[in-house]
Amino acid sequence: MMKEAVKVVNLSKSYPSKSAKEKGNGIHRLSFTIRQGECVGLVGESGCGKSTLVRQLLALETPDEGEVYWLSQRLANLSRSRLRLLRQHVQAVFQDAAAALNDRLPIWRSVIEPLDNYPDVKSTIFERQDLERRERAQFLLALVGLSGEHLDRYPHELSGGQRQRVCIARAVSLCPQVLICDEPTSGLDPTIQRQILELLLRLQRELKMSMLFISHDMAVIAQLCQRVMVMKKGLIVDQFGVDQMNEEARHEYTKLLIAAAQ
Ligand SMILES: Nc1ncnc2c1ncn2[C@@H]1O[C@H](COP(=O)(O)OP(=O)(O)OP(=O)(O)O)[C@@H](O)[C@H]1O
Ligand SMILES: [Mg+2]
Repeated sequence: MMKEAVKVVNLSKSYPSKSAKEKGNGIHRLSFTIRQGECVGLVGESGCGKSTLVRQLLALETPDEGEVYWLSQRLANLSRSRLRLLRQHVQAVFQDAAAALNDRLPIWRSVIEPLDNYPDVKSTIFERQDLERRERAQFLLALVGLSGEHLDRYPHELSGGQRQRVCIARAVSLCPQVLICDEPTSGLDPTIQRQILELLLRLQRELKMSMLFISHDMAVIAQLCQRVMVMKKGLIVDQFGVDQMNEEARHEYTKLLIAAAQ
């Protein structure tokens, strides 16, 4: 039996709303699993709760109720040090690469931040363990199609696509078991978007990572993922394998999203 990389049980989180109109924000009793090596897509319109789910999945917030498990370990009640150790296996890439990088750090320093944070971890991404920090940075940049000339640049001296490559290199530097991507290509033009998607897909396969890929574009999800979850107003309304995407049994909302992507 394949192991579960991420499991979510009855997960809820809502925020105090300022107006009655905003009532119903957040996420409500979500349950799903992501198996090891599996790439799962999450699709839904803006404001439906995708990033709210991500913040609970990454243990950046405490859910109102329900449980999150990483690699079969329940996050609630874990000690800080235990959570910190587990965190090396669960990394993320966000939409806003510029915000995710420190303006004042040269690229090579940003890219090895996780390695610096976990000096005792021997990341299996490197074929050799005797590399200097700067050599590790160069190896990671090469992995995402950037070269030595980018090492000493600052984030504002890169294009948006290049910045996102840096964030991806950083996210995979510890060879994580789970990669959570929250609309990583939404701010990019279509050609660059395609290149970044191909890069993510290649890394996911090479490193055998489990991936949760979030997008509001069903076409992108279909290209990348084996399984799809459709979210609407904080609920998962449909879940299916990509090969069942065009079946009549699909939820009306799924059909709408498919039509919108064509
Ligand atoms: N910290 C917060 N305080 C109050 N309300 C919040 C907070 N974070 C999110 N919300 C509300 O929760 C709902 C879901 O927001 P969320 O960011 O999860 O949506 P999303 O699906 O990621 O949207 P997008 O596709 O635009 O990124 C929205 O109505 C939002 O206004
Ligand atoms: Mg979001």
